[in-house]
Amino acid sequence: MAIDVKSAEEIKKMRLAGRLTADVLDMIGKHIKIGVTTGELDKICHDYIVNKQKAVPAPLNYQGYPKSICTSVNHVVCHGIPGDKKLKKGDIINIDITIIKDGYHGDSSKMFILGKSSIKAQRICRIAQKCLYIGIQQVKPGVRLGEIGKAIGAYANKNNCSIVRDYCGHGIGTQFHSEPQVVHYDDGNTASSPVLEAGMTFTIEPMVNLGGFEVTTSKIDGWTVTTKDRSLSAQWEHTILVTKEGCEILTLREEESV
Ligand code: MF3
Ligand code: CO
Ligand code: CO
Repeated sequence: MAIDVKSAEEIKKMRLAGRLTADVLDMIGKHIKIGVTTGELDKICHDYIVNKQKAVPAPLNYQGYPKSICTSVNHVVCHGIPGDKKLKKGDIINIDITIIKDGYHGDSSKMFILGKSSIKAQRICRIAQKCLYIGIQQVKPGVRLGEIGKAIGAYANKNNCSIVRDYCGHGIGTQFHSEPQVVHYDDGNTASSPVLEAGMTFTIEPMVNLGGFEVTTSKIDGWTVTTKDRSLSAQWEHTILVTKEGCEILTLREEESV
């Protein structure tokens, strides 16, 4: 299936959606404190997206998902559902935001650390962010998509961490998830993977575990994904546009220097 190449008009809309997504992550930072519940964080983000940004929180009712954001704490890999759980000292939490503005999606996530945490918690957060940046560095026209995962996987291996295989990055635009699938490890298919072209938009969102790569999905809520060995997991995500020169990070935050 062909990967969609965006027009100049569509790219403008993707830029706006990306910026708004980044703004939500900037906004929520000051609310992430010991004792706050993930449900409270969801409500703050929901109200900000709907009332302030006049945008739509894409996860809400997406394939039956019940909340507006994903909150994944410690050994939760992704798709953690906000609820009554209070954050405690040393926790690490991924906040994943997807918004729709004028029909176009922006999708980004980052890790937050609650107060003083263990060295291993800090380490997995840092390595996962580096994995994202190394993936982004591969992106330019003419390169095969599989090079992204190869570079990320090699870095994770070198650091004795593992990359989740069951979830990947994705094309994004008028749809939340579309072609291509962006794997974050070497799946052996690089040579036959698509060649990147300016105007393509997709996410890179490596999930990195301190232990093994295997994950399981909660039989209770049908969403929450955890590491099988209950080791810590971290994830960072950006929405990327392939440009003539290389790429543009549509969800870049001011705090970042890439
Ligand atoms: N934001 C996630 C991603 O990066 C998808 C969440 S789907 C949901 O692709 F339904 F759990 F919100
Ligand atoms: Co995504
Ligand atoms: Co996301």
